[in-house]
Formats: sequence, structure tokens, C-alpha cells
Amino acid sequence: MSVAPKVRPVTVHDILAKKGKERIVSVTAYDALFGRLVDEAGIDIALVGDSLGNVVAGFDTTLPVTLEQMIYHGAAVRRGVTRAMVVVDMPFMTYQVDVTRALENTGRVMQQTGAQAVKLEGGSPRMSEIIGVVVETGIPVMGHLGFTPQSVNALGGYRVQGRGDEAAARLIDDAKRLEQAGVFSIVLELVPAEVARRVTESVSVPTIGIGAGAGCDGQVLVLPDLLGLNDGFAPKFLKRYASLADTVRAAVRQYGDDVRAGAYPDDEHSF
Ligand code: KIV
Repeated sequence: MSVAPKVRPVTVHDILAKKGKERIVSVTAYDALFGRLVDEAGIDIALVGDSLGNVVAGFDTTLPVTLEQMIYHGAAVRRGVTRAMVVVDMPFMTYQVDVTRALENTGRVMQQTGAQAVKLEGGSPRMSEIIGVVVETGIPVMGHLGFTPQSVNALGGYRVQGRGDEAAARLIDDAKRLEQAGVFSIVLELVPAEVARRVTESVSVPTIGIGAGAGCDGQVLVLPDLLGLNDGFAPKFLKRYASLADTVRAAVRQYGDDVRAGAYPDDEHSF
């Protein structure tokens, strides 16, 4: 009898060890089906991003996303993934208020999704303190700096962050604080390439860029954007690797034509 070898899941140590050696590949996933597909494609990290508020739920921002929704999607992705590390975004106002709430909510996400880590936005002294306590409790945390979507209203829209010497220095300080707090990686979103490179060189933990150029230790993209499913969204940093929106429209149009013409179901597809 042959027993299938058990797959060893990617750990925080694997991610940390890649710094300076091998680039980290991450994409978002929001359900078990795509979780399985991206896992089979060999990614390192499946990020259950609260971007699902935009791309799945149709909100304008990530702010309305709830903890229950993240737990539902996180658990679904976890069921589809066997090898990649699953990281779940903590939604707006589930960790910012105080350490107690951050611990209760990150703990719930870990227990109820089976994910290996959570992601929290921000690197201020206060946020870093909260993140430090979460990490100390045994919950791995991925940080997120630059454009932090949960602060979209304070940041005045979807804008590149860290432009100019002062802003770049602030970003480096934030990254160092997160490193000190014990994060195992830091997402850098919408940051000039040169600034992202400097941040990357300033910390010992890997940086994972999105709209942050080639100088990061890894890259993350929102899956429907990468697949060309969300074809109304075309920021400069996005490279589409497929045009699935066209494929979906054409397939469903053909299906509709067949049903209307009585061409489907036919004998071949009937019992
Ligand atoms: O929510 C998300 O998908 C993210 C990525 C853009 C990094 O935070």
C-alpha cells in the first residue's frame, strides 16, 4: 500500500529564511476553490485580504468588512490550501481599539479559520505596541505599511505613500518598529520603488510589495486583478496574466445562446 506523502505547510520560518535568497510569491484568495488553485500553482502565501470587501462584496472600501466575514472566507481558503501559508487580514476596528480586543479578535481568527497568521495595518508606536503583544501571545503577524486601505479616508484616497524625504524616513521608522514588534513580514503598498528598496534594506524581515517596485523581497497581487477578472481596475502597477473577464462573459453568453436555442441540454448531457 502506498501512502501519499504529507505536504509540509510553509511556515513563518520559511518566509523569514527567504530574505535575500529567494523571492516570496503571494496572491489573495477568498474561497476554497481559488485557494486550492493558487496553492497548486506553488505560491508561498495565500492572503485572505479584506480587499474581498471591494472585489467580492462590491463595497467602495474595505471598511465595512466584518470579523465574521473574514472568518468565513478565511476558513474556506484554509480548507482549499494544503501547502501555502494562509494569512487572514484583520478587518477595520477589530484590533485598533486596544490590546484586549486585538488579542480576542486575532485569537478568534486563528482558532476559527485554521490560518497560520494574521495581517494588521499600521506601524505607529501605538499600533506596534498592540502588534508586539499579539506576536508575544504566539500569533504570527504580517505588517502592512505605505498605503493602508483601512485608512483611505485619512490618507485622502488611493495615493502613493512615502514620497519625499520626511515621509520616506517615517516609513522606515514604522518598518523598524514593526520589526522590533516581531512581525514576520511587511506588506508595502503603493510606495515609490526607491523608497521600498530602502525600507527593505533597513529591516531584517521580508517586505512584500504591491505597487512598490522590484526592490522588495516578494510580491503580492489581488487575484481577480492578476487574472483579469476585475477588468475595470487598471492601476499602473498591475500586470494581468489572463483575461478571464472576457472568457467568463463569452462562456456564459454561449451557454445562454445554447439554452435559448434548445442546443443544451442535448442527449449527450442527459440521463
Ligand atoms: O486586502 C488585501 O488584499 C491586501 C493586499 C492588497 C496586500 O491587503
